[in-house]
Amino acid sequence: MKVMNIRRCSVLFLEPNETVRFSLGAVFSGGDGLVRHSAWQAIAPHLENGMVGIDEGMVIMLGKLSPSRWVPWGDCGGTYEQVHALIQKGLVIAAEDIPGLEHFRLDDERVRAADWWPLAAASAGLGRWSDVDSAADMERNGTNTVAGLMKTREAPMPEPESSADTFLPRCESDAFDDLLRRRVTCRNFSVRALEHAVFARMMERVFAATHVKEPVQGLRFLKRSSPSGGGFHATDAYLLIQRVAGLEPGLYRYLPEAHALSRIEGCSDQVETLAGQMVAGQHWFSNAPVMVALVATYRRSFWKYRNHAKAYRALILDSGHLSQTLYLSATDKGMGAFVTAAINEKQIETMFGLDPLEKGVIAVCGFGYRAEEMTITEFDPGRAVWSATQS
Ligand SMILES: Cc1cc2nc3c(=O)[nH]c(=O)nc-3n(C[C@H](O)[C@H](O)[C@H](O)COP(=O)(O)O)c2cc1C
Repeated sequence: MKVMNIRRCSVLFLEPNETVRFSLGAVFSGGDGLVRHSAWQAIAPHLENGMVGIDEGMVIMLGKLSPSRWVPWGDCGGTYEQVHALIQKGLVIAAEDIPGLEHFRLDDERVRAADWWPLAAASAGLGRWSDVDSAADMERNGTNTVAGLMKTREAPMPEPESSADTFLPRCESDAFDDLLRRRVTCRNFSVRALEHAVFARMMERVFAATHVKEPVQGLRFLKRSSPSGGGFHATDAYLLIQRVAGLEPGLYRYLPEAHALSRIEGCSDQVETLAGQMVAGQHWFSNAPVMVALVATYRRSFWKYRNHAKAYRALILDSGHLSQTLYLSATDKGMGAFVTAAINEKQIETMFGLDPLEKGVIAVCGFGYRAEEMTITEFDPGRAVWSATQS
């Protein structure tokens, strides 16, 4: 047989995973009715689903293999069948391509080249949802209301409060305080379309570059209304537009330097379905006239922050800042806004044509006019948005 050189994939975590299921048979045989099953799970970001099940023999073999040095397969202490099984799972990489499995080597090389901090790479890869309907799931298991939650868990322990030493003066409210008070996550959007100019204004305020500096060729620093880790502004706005005057419903990418849209072809007849998929079935968000997927391009940040424990965290924070600016900008223009991390990343990647090894969908925001009536609960205890008669 031809000598085949192999090495381990670059990022790999092994998790001893336990699944628990109820069995009537286990009750009759005198136990607590729960059947527990332990199995090893290999977590590796270059895999399509971010993980794959393995057995104990594979765990030992993987522990012996170098992720950097190629060795002949016979030196790894396993049988050819064991090595081949690990190659087919994508956890052991063969130097010479095996038909149908080349993508594992190519994707592993891309993870190596991307300068990820390994734990962040694993978390980003594994945390992506596909076809989740979180609204239906919560209704099914009764966790969509506080009363329902209380049936499934104890009340949280109150945290001990520190004693107050110095009381701070309360200030007269000004216009900015009023704006902050009116920021309430919107779950009741009107069918009213957005005026073109209002939409343009929102995009300009939140996502446009106000200045661009290029200290060396190819390295461009944008200035935006929100801060950004390292000043890289690695987060772009990918839009699903349902109702904006003068724009075809469909998918777009916003270009922050040109303050322009680039159309992403296809799907204009399916926007409603795509909107629902984007926000994992949360129908209280999916009829917003504009939804924005906040998409980070990893290499723009990792170019500087190589193998950096904080780089991915900074990208997540960047999306948080953009979403708050979007909330406040929408509130200022008499609109409602939302942000959610309960999203189907995989469907969003497919609809916008995003490569998950290059780009990560961190959150989805949306904005539009509020409906006349509140039919889905919003957190507005001060009635800053909804008067007592409206809700
Ligand atoms: C990161 C993040 C994720 C959120 N995800 C959801 C969500 O999945 N569904 C939802 O209805 N609201 C979501 N929200 C909105 C919160 O529920 C809301 O901010 C909170 O209840 C406080 O209400 P307020 O924003 O009106 O002050 C999210 C907010 C943040 C910041």
